[in-house]
Amino acid sequence: MSITPRPPIPSFLPENAPFSPEQRAWLNGLFAGLYGLTEGVTPLSAQEVAQLVPGVALTPAIEDGAPWHDPALPLADRMKLAEGKPLPQRMMAAMAQQDCGQCGYNCKDYSAAIFAKKEERLNLCVPGGKDTARKLKELYSELDTPGAAPQAEKIVPAQPARLGYSRDNPVVATLAQRRRLNRDGSQKETWHIELDLEATELAYEVGDSLGIYPINDPGLVDAVIGALGAPPDFPIGGRTLRETLKDGVSLSPAPDMLFQLISYLTGGERRKVAKALAAGQDPEGDAATLDVLAALQKFAGIRPDPEAFIEALDPLQPRVYSISSSPKSNAGRVSLTVDAVRYEVNERVRLGVASTFLAGRIALGQKVRVYVQKAQHFALPADPNKPVIMIGPGTGIAPFRAFLQERLATNAPGPNWLYFGHQRSDYDFFYEEELKAMRKSGHLSRLTLAWSRDGDEKIYVQGRMRDEGRDLWAWLERGAHIYVCGDALRMAKDVERALIDVVSEHGKRSPEDAARFVAELKKNDRYQVDVY
Ligand SMILES: Cc1cc2nc3c(=O)[nH]c(=O)nc-3n(C[C@H](O)[C@H](O)[C@H](O)COP(=O)(O)OP(=O)(O)OC[C@H]3O[C@@H](n4cnc5c(N)ncnc54)[C@H](O)[C@@H]3O)c2cc1C
Ligand SMILES: NC(=O)c1ccc[n+]([C@@H]2O[C@H](COP(=O)([O-])OP(=O)(O)OC[C@H]3O[C@@H](n4cnc5c(N)ncnc54)[C@H](OP(=O)(O)O)[C@@H]3O)[C@@H](O)[C@H]2O)c1
Repeated sequence: MSITPRPPIPSFLPENAPFSPEQRAWLNGLFAGLYGLTEGVTPLSAQEVAQLVPGVALTPAIEDGAPWHDPALPLADRMKLAEGKPLPQRMMAAMAQQDCGQCGYNCKDYSAAIFAKKEERLNLCVPGGKDTARKLKELYSELDTPGAAPQAEKIVPAQPARLGYSRDNPVVATLAQRRRLNRDGSQKETWHIELDLEATELAYEVGDSLGIYPINDPGLVDAVIGALGAPPDFPIGGRTLRETLKDGVSLSPAPDMLFQLISYLTGGERRKVAKALAAGQDPEGDAATLDVLAALQKFAGIRPDPEAFIEALDPLQPRVYSISSSPKSNAGRVSLTVDAVRYEVNERVRLGVASTFLAGRIALGQKVRVYVQKAQHFALPADPNKPVIMIGPGTGIAPFRAFLQERLATNAPGPNWLYFGHQRSDYDFFYEEELKAMRKSGHLSRLTLAWSRDGDEKIYVQGRMRDEGRDLWAWLERGAHIYVCGDALRMAKDVERALIDVVSEHGKRSPEDAARFVAELKKNDRYQVDVY
């Protein structure tokens, strides 16, 4: 019996799709199977690939050789893309890819610093949370394998800790103003926050973010102390237990170390459960709901030594917020646009630590530790004549309010186009008067609004971009710079897809060429994002 050789699997993927030869072969096989095709096929467009493989970047990653550098990709996909790469690259893929600077580095430098053993803290990636910390711990253990030792040239120079410009060297600002940006009846709670910087000499530029050191909710601190059964004034390193719980440690997701500690203090079945949780498993289906208090309540009755308990927690990290003011029109002040994170789990309201601190726990006139996180690749064009298109639904409007103020203060002649969207026009039109006044004066050449819950149909900014594709393309042809700010997981991806569609339809290009055009915009800093 003769065996007919299988024909080679044709390529369904565009040349620039970010895959290794093995991944390319595997995906081509998958698509061939999906379509039942073996010959005469045309490669899929970037958009089609993105639809079939959710999360795959629509345009090639800016950083050559780092296809995982995309904040919309889940950790597992990022690690897959980094498979077989040297350890520093795999460590980088474990980061959340936001380059948000909350850890004090960008993703690449944080991983390089860990690899060089210059940075021992593996839990600094706020957006990556526990998943990133766990993956880094796993990868870190490879550092001790022969051949993995850091080489001299890989060592990253220590960050300059200029006062006020580093998480390690914050300054003290004062809360000067807080007002709610939604009207009563809104389902959102978003605040305009103004901080007085007079005493700090801190200077910032539009596009920068502000790092904030929050304080935990005192009610939660007391509940944790109650569950611990320890005296609030128990001394820990010259401070009391209560003080340390307030501003020293995170009371959010219970870290693996806490479950490790709990496993030493329990026995039998409970010990098994604690050990499994410490290993990142979910033996009882509730792991995602276990903050520090819920973990103590789950294993009620354990009485850890308060010092060992504190040791087992993660440090309380700063959070960063896009600055929503220009220093040129707000001397000595900085403003933020903050969505308060509150949600309920098992009948207890969980509070986003920094956003609810700014939304209410700090009183007017009180002090807060802050630092400026300089923007990387997020700035107005150097040429003030260039048109700018700004797409910022929800809190994404923040840096664009700053851009508009800056262009007004500097009499920049270039036209400005803002896309803003939110749930309901009557309740969630942030900075409505200001924007309408700028529209009336002509400073805001165009204002496009997208209300997702005004009618039966969801209207999003990307839908409005498609509606106005002809004009959008005309602005791009005139050299417009385009900016996106807000939700990284879905909105930013959808906006990029809409832009590619607009370029394809109105710029008369194939989808592949349109994706390349957008990639080129990114490369030339004409398409910049600040997403989280
Ligand atoms: C560069 C950058 C700029 C940013 N700019 C802004 C800005 O201008 N405005 C702004 O508001 N934010 C902004 N953020 C986000 C901000 O930094 C914080 O991440 C955000 O405020 C939440 O922090 P928190 O401490 O209040 O919440 P945390 O205590 O960190 O809690 C948030 C966590 O709670 C969980 N969670 C939230 N909602 C739910 C839910 N419904 N169900 C279950 N779990 C949930 C999620 O795990 C989430 O990660 C920005 C982030 C970056 C990186
Ligand atoms: N974890 C999550 O699932 C999630 C989701 C969104 C935002 N966030 C976070 O919540 C915080 C604050 O959010 P926010 O106040 O800025 O507002 P937001 O919740 O991001 O919503 C702003 C507007 O964007 C709309 N929207 C939802 N999905 C969209 C998409 N794929 N494309 C375009 N628009 C979309 C919303 O519509 P509808 O809500 O009516 O659909 C709403 O009208 C941010 O930190 C953000 O990262 C988290």
